[in-house]
Amino acid sequence: MSGFNAPHCGSLRASDDGREVELFGWVARRRDHGGVTFLDVRDRWGTVQVVVRALAETHIRNEFVIRVAGKVARRPAGSENPRMATGEVELVAAEVEVISEAKTPPFEIVDDVEADEALRLKYRYLDIRRPKMAQTLELRHRVVQAIHRYMDGHEFMEVETPMLLKGTPEGSRDFIVPSRLHPGEFFALPQSPQQLKQLLMVAGIGRYYQIARCLRDEDLRADRVVEITQLDVEMSFCTEEDVFALIEGLWAKVWKDVLGIEIPTPFPRLDMQESMLRYGTDKPDLRYELEIADVSDVLRETGATVLRGALDAGGVVRCLAVPGGKDMSRRELDELALLAKGAGAKGLAWIPGPLDRHLAEGELTAIRSSSGATADDLVLLVADRRRKAETVMGLLRREIARRRKLIRQGEWKFLWVYPMYLFEEDDLGHLTYGHHPFTSPWPEDMHLLADRPYDVRARAYDCVMNGVEISGGSIRIHDRGLQERVFGILGMGREKIHSQFGHLLDAFEYGVPPHGGIAAGIDRLMMAIKDTDNIRDVVAFPKTQSHQDLMLGAPSPVSPEQLEELHIRVVPPSKPS
Ligand code: AMO
Repeated sequence: MSGFNAPHCGSLRASDDGREVELFGWVARRRDHGGVTFLDVRDRWGTVQVVVRALAETHIRNEFVIRVAGKVARRPAGSENPRMATGEVELVAAEVEVISEAKTPPFEIVDDVEADEALRLKYRYLDIRRPKMAQTLELRHRVVQAIHRYMDGHEFMEVETPMLLKGTPEGSRDFIVPSRLHPGEFFALPQSPQQLKQLLMVAGIGRYYQIARCLRDEDLRADRVVEITQLDVEMSFCTEEDVFALIEGLWAKVWKDVLGIEIPTPFPRLDMQESMLRYGTDKPDLRYELEIADVSDVLRETGATVLRGALDAGGVVRCLAVPGGKDMSRRELDELALLAKGAGAKGLAWIPGPLDRHLAEGELTAIRSSSGATADDLVLLVADRRRKAETVMGLLRREIARRRKLIRQGEWKFLWVYPMYLFEEDDLGHLTYGHHPFTSPWPEDMHLLADRPYDVRARAYDCVMNGVEISGGSIRIHDRGLQERVFGILGMGREKIHSQFGHLLDAFEYGVPPHGGIAAGIDRLMMAIKDTDNIRDVVAFPKTQSHQDLMLGAPSPVSPEQLEELHIRVVPPSKPS
């Protein structure tokens, strides 16, 4: 029996009326009506209704795999189902054969499934049987195919880079793999093929791309996976403008081919500082207007001590008008204050509110006009260190847009955040790189490297869509001396530089073209396209928030023999006393 070339369940239409066919699929639903059995039979391509008179295989239930042979017929008038693509027809079965039986599944295989996510992940193969999941995977496939066509059309060559590497810094922890043949030594799985793609430029490949798997051992959030799929790109003799044009063309092509939507190019650009000021984030969602304003200057002499205190300590005051917010309940305001405090703010003030009586008339007017507030609006104020005030305001902006339903659904708002900064402060207040240590400083800012590193702009860019960072990249350093200097500023000693990056620095001595590139997160892109907050919705076999594969039961212990072979001894964490 081969059903490989049989028509798909979802393919039958009125034009097939009278056709003799053989179908293969899963029983999605069974109904019995006065001696006639109706079976909805499903495969990846859709569902069709099968009509069986006098069913011999009476034990057929949902999820059995069956073969049906019969004749396609138009459904009797009035019984068509416009919600099904095959809804005008049914297959009148002459023969029904059970190929494989099925236990009752742990959850119903329907789009609006109610089972919790852990159960769905444990039985992911059943979850993927749900039409919605299968369609998402198909859409993902279409996006990747459009990417391949576009990159090939622009003379980019796909080159596979190895999975067993030496660590490359992308700001996360490495997953490491012990070497059996080199006791006590380890490979690192790639956080990205960054250094290899740069070496491919030294090798003269000129235009490289890869649909690459990257592994980052980081704490998971709703928009993060540990196994990332990236479209990874690198090109020689290019500037930022070449990268922007390539990527704008790519997204325009993907949107047109896959979604049938024209997106306008070029994308607007916003520098990082302006993005942080106006939107409180480096990935602003431009599907709603809300803009943050700085009112530090008008409040320098204010009598409102909470604001004045922050300003005197070198901080800022930022404000945001909430459209129609005057009707906000005290409860809602308290919830927003709680949100702000949760993000580390000292507090949240609003006008009209208790703060009004501490503010001069002129200050109130200036706050209202800077934030563009009308008489119906409420203005939220946060006074804090600049960075803190920005992120808290960004969070409030998003929350207000959500609560007040200001997000225009169905819009695609792309932009470049560029330039960005070369360095930033890590959680411990130490200097670290912004994008990665291979990013070129802005040429005009080179003189700031020694004394004001935080002010050095980078030739780095992020492409943001609807508030999601879908891709990021930079023009790279291609000068050995400058690369060594940047490593040095990042606190790396000579020895560390040479043991970790000697290969790259050496390569730079053999004729290196100026080069740059970008990587786009396919998982994030799919999240945005499918408009879901949960990245696991767009990945076939994702890990849970706690890095587990519930279906495979991984991670799991390995045998003592395997550990011995790898020269590894496990020291279990000591129990808290
Ligand atoms: P970066 O680290 O910015 O750059 O990653 C590029 C893009 O990959 C996606 N991404 C992720 N998606 C899901 N989960 C994650 N944990 C995750 N981390 C990153 C994002 C991001 O924009 N080597 C550089 C690129 C370059 O400079 O060319 C890099 O990897 O969409």
